[in-house]
Amino acid sequence: MLAAMNDGIHAFFASPATKRPRVRRAEGIWFEDTEGKRYLDASSGPVVSNIGHGNARVQAAMAAQAAAFEFAHPMLWESEANLRLTEKITALAGPGLDRAFFVSGGSEAVETALKLCRQHAVVTGEPRRWKVIGREPGYHGNTLAALAVSGDPVAHALYGPMMPKMPLVPAPFTYRLPPNHTPETYAIHCADALEACILAEDPATILAFIMEPIGGLATGALVPSDAYIAAVRDICTRHGVLLIFDEVISGAGRTGTFLAAHHWPASRPDLVVLAKGITAGYTPLGAVLAPAAMVDRVAASGGFAHGFTYFANPLSAAIGAAVLDELVERDLMGNATRMGALLRAELEALAGRSSVVGDVRGRGLLLAIEIVADKAAKASFPAVAMAPYRLQALGLEHGIALYCRRTAGGAFGEFVPITPPLTITEAEMHELIRRLDATLQHFEREIRHDG
Ligand SMILES: Cc1ncc(COP(=O)(O)O)c(C=O)c1O
Repeated sequence: MLAAMNDGIHAFFASPATKRPRVRRAEGIWFEDTEGKRYLDASSGPVVSNIGHGNARVQAAMAAQAAAFEFAHPMLWESEANLRLTEKITALAGPGLDRAFFVSGGSEAVETALKLCRQHAVVTGEPRRWKVIGREPGYHGNTLAALAVSGDPVAHALYGPMMPKMPLVPAPFTYRLPPNHTPETYAIHCADALEACILAEDPATILAFIMEPIGGLATGALVPSDAYIAAVRDICTRHGVLLIFDEVISGAGRTGTFLAAHHWPASRPDLVVLAKGITAGYTPLGAVLAPAAMVDRVAASGGFAHGFTYFANPLSAAIGAAVLDELVERDLMGNATRMGALLRAELEALAGRSSVVGDVRGRGLLLAIEIVADKAAKASFPAVAMAPYRLQALGLEHGIALYCRRTAGGAFGEFVPITPPLTITEAEMHELIRRLDATLQHFEREIRHDG
């Protein structure tokens, strides 16, 4: 084993409460560390490893592309791999999302979508449109423009002076509600807040509204009502505001359909941003899907004023095409629906017997549990208790890899995504629940004892 020369990547972060295991290999839904201990990957890392680890077809596609050529910049060359991936991904996304621009991850894809919208507004005679409305809480990435549209007051307190100020509207939470609201009335209240924001800012200055159709790590798999999605679509259409769905987490089959947007076929977004699951961790890749008419207008105006060294990277594209083949040919979206129903039932049963699981939400295999100190009051643990991170650390002891990322220091609730690879079998699901149950019981004993 390599001796620790220094702290590696962990040198950049505050001294962690837990020692991170050093990974040796991964196969299917399992990690193995250098001591030989196995961990069930219950979250697919940060909701990435949709097809599981060690996939032979993807490894072969990677090797074949690397052997043919590893790099050819898209300003000079077209590649078969890029064309193949474009064809597959736009066919899966469906009509209206006919063009694909590939980058190296979710944040780059969000930046690209915003710039494409902006250039389109300028070339179609609406140069006053530049503001992009986001939701609070919300997360769209860590680069500065993606962070500007992410509703995270803690990140804004730190980086705010370096970012354009963008308007934010509330996300339609379903668990904790203001007085006299049901989830349905609150969702409509939140949609009304979007329209009020557009009017207050001056509709002629609003470029786009960006939201996660089914939430990820910022809201703990928040599923909006049908009425909310329909209202948002209608408001955006009436005010000429482009609707961007950030499907970095919800896309690539995770909720049982290729896009979460497919659950609401009558309320289609104008653009979709993807990453994570489209290459399932085998390589970094993000994508912006956009309508042909929009892209063609920008192209005709002299071309999209944007690009990166690694955009439309052929090696990443070849890997993405193989991942999508796995997704379709092994019916992993169907498995996400079937296993998602089983997982939800098991999590609800677990919530019934646990004093710290306050809510279970999500769709397909994009599920999350909300951790609370008091179920009746729906009260979170004090922020200093770092409850989800303690749960994460205990999970490792019990051989289950959970992933936590807190928006705004937990100000909007503390969630743990339960998002295993879409390849998970029923037997593996029972094992996941067994390990999660043991971890939660351990956590409960510990946190009730020492607060
Ligand atoms: C919804 C959403 N959008 C964008 C991003 C940013 O993606 P990346 O970390 O690949 O830049 C993330 C990352 O977690 C995300 O969850």
